Amino acid sequence: MGTTVKTSADQALALINDSVRTLKAYHLTPETRNVKLNQNENPCDWDRGIKERAAAFFAERPWNRYPDFVPDALKARLAAHVGTTPDGVIVGNGSNEMLLVLMLSFAAKAKSAIVCSPTFSVYRLLSNGMGIRPVDVSLTNDLRYDVPAIKKAAAGNPGAMLIICSPNNPTGNAVSEADLRDILSVHTGVCVLDQAYVEFGGFNATGLIDEYKNLIIARTFSKAMAAAGMRLGYMIGDPEVITEINKIKLPYNINFFTEHAASTILDNAAMAQKSVDMIIKERDLLYDYLKTLQFDNVYPSTANFILIRTKHKQKLFQHLKDSDILVRDVSSYPMLENCLRFSIGTPDENKLLQKSLKLFFDRV
Ligand SMILES: Cc1ncc(COP(=O)(O)O)c(C=O)c1O
Repeated sequence: MGTTVKTSADQALALINDSVRTLKAYHLTPETRNVKLNQNENPCDWDRGIKERAAAFFAERPWNRYPDFVPDALKARLAAHVGTTPDGVIVGNGSNEMLLVLMLSFAAKAKSAIVCSPTFSVYRLLSNGMGIRPVDVSLTNDLRYDVPAIKKAAAGNPGAMLIICSPNNPTGNAVSEADLRDILSVHTGVCVLDQAYVEFGGFNATGLIDEYKNLIIARTFSKAMAAAGMRLGYMIGDPEVITEINKIKLPYNINFFTEHAASTILDNAAMAQKSVDMIIKERDLLYDYLKTLQFDNVYPSTANFILIRTKHKQKLFQHLKDSDILVRDVSSYPMLENCLRFSIGTPDENKLLQKSLKLFFDRV
């Protein structure tokens, strides 16, 4: 008989990779208000009739059977949607899962990740968790991409993974085609372009993939397509590259609810486009209005949110909550002291936001 081993909690914790144990957990305070402008969601839900038709399919479809091994039909529809071929598309449970698949595919060889700052915090979470060396490149003081600094980092870290978010969350700035080409002309590693918000502005980079085989574009149904709860993300890249990274993606990562609902959404893409048109119009109106108030800064945005800076940040955040409006406090990000991010809501929600802001600035 061998000796019985009992592992203590401390010993079990010590087994976890240091790169994971030292992570600061991704955190979102679970708060809600009637006017929810804190997560850059599309404020327009899908039509009830469309949802009911999808629900009727779920009722008929056997739940005891696996979904498609490869969701070929969905991939073909997504490829047609973005103007590429199905073998150049990989789908996942939100674009967050796609970012993880990228890390699993490239991190060990890349050894370092060039990430602009401030940006979407999941890039840093994943690259730190994978134990690869972070190379930070700050945005310029007016929160734009610092192209010479990105090129310098790329040239100094050959083979590094470069992650660019365009339009960038939480600042709203975007990289231009000329700047991206300029960066890609010196970058030898994989370049991940997260275009979660591209339907609201910035340029669609899918046309560059033929030319730059190291470019991979991440997209999502969580923003313009109004389906954050459904969890569908996808990446577009060179078919040979996508075929390889597809090997590390878990089988059956797309459940049949998502697969079917995504097709339904694509059938009704014109409806999503209507809401995108409304959001763009509302964003521009809100931007003009915000510029009339006493903010320290209102940053131009090509996305479905606007970043502002005010020395009254804490008071304003609370005032908005007291008015039943939840926005995002992003002041803990680098360079974003005193900043709040307002997602664009429906016209009625944006009016309520404007009314509440006016009341606040009339009083301070
Ligand atoms: C830039 C960016 N990329 C990716 C995501 C995550 O998207 P998904 O819901 O597809 O995982 C977000 C979510 O806010 C985001 O802002």
